[in-house]
Amino acid sequence: MTAIDKILTVDEMMRVARRRVPKMFFEYADSGSYTEGTYRENESDFNKIKLNQKVAVNLEGRNLKTKMLGKEITMPVAIAPAATGGMQTADGEIKAAKAAEKFGIPFSLSTMSVCSIEDVAENTTAPFWFQLYVMRDRDFINRLIDRAKAAKCSALVLTMDLQILGQRHKDIKNGLSTPPKFTPYSIWQMMQHPLWCARMLGTKRHTFRNIVGHVSGDHDLASLSAWTASQFDPTLNWGDVRWIKERFGGPVIVKGVLDADDAQAAIDNGADAIVVSNHGGRQLDGAPSTIRVLPEIVDRVGHKTEVYLDSGIRMGQDVIKALAYGAKATFIGRPMLYGLGAGGEAGVTRVLEIIRRELDTTMALCGERDILNVGLHNIYSNDIPPRNAPKTRA
Ligand SMILES: Cc1cc2nc3c(=O)[nH]c(=O)nc-3n(C[C@H](O)[C@H](O)[C@H](O)COP(=O)(O)O)c2cc1C
Repeated sequence: MTAIDKILTVDEMMRVARRRVPKMFFEYADSGSYTEGTYRENESDFNKIKLNQKVAVNLEGRNLKTKMLGKEITMPVAIAPAATGGMQTADGEIKAAKAAEKFGIPFSLSTMSVCSIEDVAENTTAPFWFQLYVMRDRDFINRLIDRAKAAKCSALVLTMDLQILGQRHKDIKNGLSTPPKFTPYSIWQMMQHPLWCARMLGTKRHTFRNIVGHVSGDHDLASLSAWTASQFDPTLNWGDVRWIKERFGGPVIVKGVLDADDAQAAIDNGADAIVVSNHGGRQLDGAPSTIRVLPEIVDRVGHKTEVYLDSGIRMGQDVIKALAYGAKATFIGRPMLYGLGAGGEAGVTRVLEIIRRELDTTMALCGERDILNVGLHNIYSNDIPPRNAPKTRA
């Protein structure tokens, strides 16, 4: 048994990652915007929901398999797109994609990843999903969509909640940048982690490889972060979903929905699925947790589309709760990043194993044999009443 296999919870994985990853990159993951109130509530609101125990049910032959966008997956958990996975460990996105592929769940690659679309495609065989940030440079965006198509990405995850950036105080204090800036403070942070440094020296992938070499104009590495931050398109609107979908020619998952009217608008404009997400508490500080708004959104659009949820999933119990309120599946962001930081591919695999085991046991103790049957009857009480109680289920 390796040291990674002895880790029993995502929380423990996070503590190992904190020791192994330079502070500025660890805290890039472990942070929310401004007061971090929404970041914290994503987790604490899950804890307020209680599950209904059932006994004397035959629990043999349990099933965790379900489908996302019509494709079978081994459990209702996908990997969320997360910038700079390749800074938690060398070649991070390739490692996470490999872990997801072996596990039989979807992997989403961020526009702001360190490993490029082509890097991941060359190192995996299962089709992955590509997450698109819409930028002002539409030629670049068109080429990016075409590259995702050429790499046979099977869905586009269109993120709608980052037209402008919520501020994360820790990043500013840490002087975070990708590629890393070599200030005395950042060098000192990296020197504390010789293994991390050695692995980084062993790869050529140190910057935003979906962007570098693919945008017009000369952007030296130092100006890249500033260029990127100025590129997020503040004019992004529902009409953009249509042309993006047409250009991609495959399913589009709209990510970042917290409001039932927005969910409806996403569908009216061609979304094939939506992700109820507050970006892991990194954008609108003060927004509700996703589990709080999920019932209302499922009530409105759950009969027309697949509704997924992310933000705050830390264990299998959270997955069951999201499914009970009508989510078809969930995404994990930070648990995957902590897995990468703590143990690379093996760390991500271990995170997935931990969540799968918790999910299976929790489902069974709720008296369910099949994940497809989980529903509101599995909730015992709810201290976070949704704005509108759910009337229908997907
Ligand atoms: C470090 C970090 C980077 C992220 N980068 C992106 C990104 O590039 N694109 C995106 O759509 N979402 C991004 N997200 C948001 C995730 O996709 C997801 O919504 C969020 O992590 C879910 O919350 P969780 O971390 O509590 O699981 C990022 C999240 C984190 C923590």
